[in-house]
Amino acid sequence: MEFIKVTEQKEPFIALIELNRPKELNALNKQLMEEVRDALQALDKNDQVRVIIITGNEQAFAAGADIKQMADKSAIDMLLIDQFSTWDQIRRTKKPIIAAVSGFALGGGCEFAMTCDMIIASETAKFGQPEIKIGTIPGAGGTQRLTRAIGKAKSMELILTGRFLSAEDALYYGLVNKVVPKEMYMLETMQLAKEIAQLSPVAVQLAKEAVNRSFETHLDEGLAFERKNFYLTFASEDQKEGMKAFVEKRKADFKGK
Ligand code: HXC
Repeated sequence: MEFIKVTEQKEPFIALIELNRPKELNALNKQLMEEVRDALQALDKNDQVRVIIITGNEQAFAAGADIKQMADKSAIDMLLIDQFSTWDQIRRTKKPIIAAVSGFALGGGCEFAMTCDMIIASETAKFGQPEIKIGTIPGAGGTQRLTRAIGKAKSMELILTGRFLSAEDALYYGLVNKVVPKEMYMLETMQLAKEIAQLSPVAVQLAKEAVNRSFETHLDEGLAFERKNFYLTFASEDQKEGMKAFVEKRKADFKGK
């Protein structure tokens, strides 16, 4: 791995992926995204991992797709490079992913953070889709995910002007889960990850899948999907253990089965 660093057990059951192209503000070239995809596929299969954190560094989560790599490409070059099949594979990760964002999360960087399930931001974080300023538009879901996250008016403003959204505004508009001082964002992310890692990984996976389905379907179908996943949890040992522990007034010990 050249452009990312993976720590499988940062804490028990918690894996950390650090984007590591600091000189380019973690600009997302093709290889970096493929490394992320490969890491996520391996972590998804590793039963010692229940929650995945993705982060950059203090200065940048990621300043977007690599503009230098794209600058001279034709439409057909871009089509054949087919970078978004990698993004589609990333989106299919079954385990929960938390983005810990400090500094720039721009263009593909903002889209990457939004592809994760939750975002914890440092108060220095700056989100934006500034593609319009370089004569293009978001291509990895920005027009769709940002609009679903913060609504049409603000999303139009950001995407049509390229303005940045401060961490405080990102919280106000519901793009991020929490904003904390710069020294705290990794700690805060770890707290959230630890809380989820104690729960049944089977139930967590089925819950993530059901929440994501709400963006892809109408209510009737979404409710039916949720119901099936709800029933499915009753096939797990974790559901038996969870409910038994409640009745016996003790802490549940979830095995992920
Ligand atoms: C390639 C990048 C880069 C990028 C920064 N760098 N962003 N290289 N692609 N997206 C490089 C710079 O060229 C420079 O390297 C180094 O990182 C530091 O950047 P500076 O510009 O010198 O830093 P600063 O003045 O602090 O400005 C920070 C910044 C600015 C505001 C984040 O770098 C910026 O505007 N970056 C581009 C943001 C952007 O437009 N993103 C959207 C990309 S399109 P050198 O070696 O030159 O000094 C996109 C499409 C997504 O994401 C769809 C497909 C996935």
